[in-house]
Amino acid sequence: MNTRMRRTAVAVAAGAMAVSLAACGSAKESGDKSDTNVVKGNAIKIGLLLPENQTARYEKFDKPLIEKQVADLTGGKGEVVYANAKQDATTQNSQVDTMITNKVNVLIIDAVDSKAIAGAVKRAKDAGIPVVAYDRLAEGPIDAYTSFDNEEVGKVQGKALLEALGDKAKDGQIVMMNGSVTDPNAKLFKQGAHSVLDGKVNVAKEYDTVEWKPENANTNMAAALSAVGKDKIVGVYSANDGMAGGIITALKAAGLTTLPPVTGQDAELAGVQRIVAGEQFMSVYKPYAPEAEAAAKMAVALAKKERIEVVATSKVDSPTTKAVPSVLIPVVSLTKANIKDTVIRDNVYSADEICTDKYAAACATLGLK
Ligand code: BGC
Repeated sequence: MNTRMRRTAVAVAAGAMAVSLAACGSAKESGDKSDTNVVKGNAIKIGLLLPENQTARYEKFDKPLIEKQVADLTGGKGEVVYANAKQDATTQNSQVDTMITNKVNVLIIDAVDSKAIAGAVKRAKDAGIPVVAYDRLAEGPIDAYTSFDNEEVGKVQGKALLEALGDKAKDGQIVMMNGSVTDPNAKLFKQGAHSVLDGKVNVAKEYDTVEWKPENANTNMAAALSAVGKDKIVGVYSANDGMAGGIITALKAAGLTTLPPVTGQDAELAGVQRIVAGEQFMSVYKPYAPEAEAAAKMAVALAKKERIEVVATSKVDSPTTKAVPSVLIPVVSLTKANIKDTVIRDNVYSADEICTDKYAAACATLGLK
């Protein structure tokens, strides 16, 4: 080897070393061990953790939609390992640990409790596993987030309730049934609803519903009915459809035949059917397909160490982590008037699914077929 060649070789080697040292240095600084978690091609193992299974959306929509997206993005080579925490934050923490032991390449987590999950997020991160926060903004060092504009969800619910109340808004009392305090979304829904309703209605009773459970909403509604009087309640703000179901059961059990307007969220099949039947005034339609798509795209990109900024065009701050690359999807108010142009148009449900025998007459009146 002549001198010039040797010099070049040394320079290249030194250059390569400088690069790897720099990589080493930054890995150390950020505590990021992602180099130990290298994905080859599309054989990506994605851990999917969902918070509960009483609300229909998770296993009917979120899970299958994410699985389908992952299959499409990886030519069928990606694998989704799934666990549902059934509302238990401790269970969810151990599910993360199991996923770490199983060496998933990336995690998608919808947290039961956004604060309680922070330690597990950190453990995943320390093991070189990036985390996408799904729907609820988990605390800890997450890499990406996708959800809806959750304060807007609350505003949409509040506006619809005001519209349904019309002149009655000032005359009577309303009851507010918010979601679980462990869910940061519940706080945003509540905030959004209050920003629209405050000063325009009288809130007789307000509850934060433990674990978002329909049966807890039912018990709270029964208590509100006996405390306030069934004829004084002109409307009920319910943060989601599951709870709206429990609330409507309580209203009927109290002997009401004409029900006050009740709000909801999720466009659950049972909720849409109650809207058709005139028992529930509205729901919020949140298209789960784009949310699932964003989560899957970001998860696959993170596993492959690719940039996610092409997908994640906004930034969100959590109480622990600033400027998280995020995708926020717009929502739509769903009433009798737009069932066809929302859930039916988007193939969430067919008219046949909604219009079972019990709802056939009401469907015919609405022109649903
Ligand atoms: C979700 C809602 C859901 C609720 C109860 C919220 O975080 O955004 O869609 O109804 O949790 O699971």
